[in-house]
Amino acid sequence: MCRIVLMKNLIILLCLIFVPNVYAQDEYTAELYESYCQACHTAFGSDAPRAFDDSIWSSRLERGLDVVVGSAVEGFGNMPAMGSCMECTYEDMEDLVRYMSQPK
Ligand code: HEC
Repeated sequence: MCRIVLMKNLIILLCLIFVPNVYAQDEYTAELYESYCQACHTAFGSDAPRAFDDSIWSSRLERGLDVVVGSAVEGFGNMPAMGSCMECTYEDMEDLVRYMSQPK
């Protein structure tokens, strides 16, 4: 009996710890990333900065988030303008850069 109560409390505690993180991750951004950016940004051998590798992104982001987002919007080297996402807005691109540049 006591163990069951303890388990319940443990589950509630785990929920409190993990649920806010799940909500903090924006589903729409994750969907855009999977549809438009993932193909290049996870490929080994591609010169695209690998997503979720913060050591790669931190040096790019030293130029400023606005600059990095701006070059992604306009196109940069082999990076197509807007990452070929025609439905993306500037704000979406900013969310995507934040999402891709954090470790996972
Ligand atoms: C066709 C492949 C391709 C797709 C699709 C693509 N990228 Fe890229 N991306 C690249 C390459 C290659 C680079 C590296 C360009 C360079 O440094 O010369 C890059 C660089 C970037 C950079 C860094 C720009 C900078 O100033 O350092 C950002 C930000 C970026 N991409 C965001 C995105 C986002 C967001 C998407 C999806 C909407 C996306 N990319 C889709 C190939 C791609």
